[in-house]
Amino acid sequence: MLVIHTIAELRAHLDEHRQNRRKISLVPTMGFLHQGHMALAQKARKESDVVVLSIFVNPIQFGVNEDLDVYPRDLPHDIALCKENGVDILFAPSVAEIYPEPIMTSVEVQSLSNILIGRHRPNHFRGVTTIVAKLLNIVEPDKIIFGEKDYQQLIIVRRMIRDLSYKAEVVGVPIVREEDGLACSSRNARLTKEDRAAAVILSQSLKKAQKRILEGEKDVSTIRQLIEDNIKSEARAKIQSIDICHATKLDTLDRIDNQPIVILLAVAFGDVVLIDQQLVTPK
Ligand code: PAJ
Repeated sequence: MLVIHTIAELRAHLDEHRQNRRKISLVPTMGFLHQGHMALAQKARKESDVVVLSIFVNPIQFGVNEDLDVYPRDLPHDIALCKENGVDILFAPSVAEIYPEPIMTSVEVQSLSNILIGRHRPNHFRGVTTIVAKLLNIVEPDKIIFGEKDYQQLIIVRRMIRDLSYKAEVVGVPIVREEDGLACSSRNARLTKEDRAAAVILSQSLKKAQKRILEGEKDVSTIRQLIEDNIKSEARAKIQSIDICHATKLDTLDRIDNQPIVILLAVAFGDVVLIDQQLVTPK
């Protein structure tokens, strides 16, 4: 596996692969890798000849009071995991390499970026789509792989790729969870022991809501109340948002008909905000 830090060196390697007609996949990440990221790498391995995984903690997607400075990092550990999981090229550029001067151009998927999680994180999704656009231009992959854990991000990136006619095909990968149901996340490492134990309430409340919907409950406010009561039973959890939406358009719903829906949660434990989601296709 190659570890590359500059755009020029990465492009030189990828040009050679393209000349040999090899299909390239890109897995964008912010590092501190875990089994969720590795499921993306394994999917990329199956779908292409050359797997590029990028690690870049992207400053422009963090708000002023967010966790940029304390975002966990461990490059030696990330390198070892990537080697074990079939990554060919690990691209780990510095901030100066990606943003040699303050950026004046950005990419934003309007409407979708300011709803749901975007309500609480102004400019977050603009930062995400801008770095993903840059990575697409640097790597020019045939496929780009994203996790369904960051569900709104996946929908927004799909839209950006359609709107801007990027050639890359977006591949989504289901959420990977710890044994007790907590979705794998780099931010889990920042939870206290007590908060880590309490955080299982997210997946538990999603499962309960899913069951009620599959049993025929159609009223969104009833489902929302069920989730809210459930999460509030855990004193350490502080609800930031509970959204029940159309699974592809992300419109919030009053009633659940026969369309697939997604439940999106953002819940804080101390200063760590965790997100989780559950897709449900009512019968
Ligand atoms: P990061 O949080 O590191 O996540 C990188 C990718 O891994 C995303 O596509 C995310 O959805 C996926 N992922 C994380 N946890 C997962 C899990 N438990 N199961 C399945 N997939 C999971 O998302 C970002 O970084 C950044 O916003 C980025 C797209 C890299 C742009 O900076």
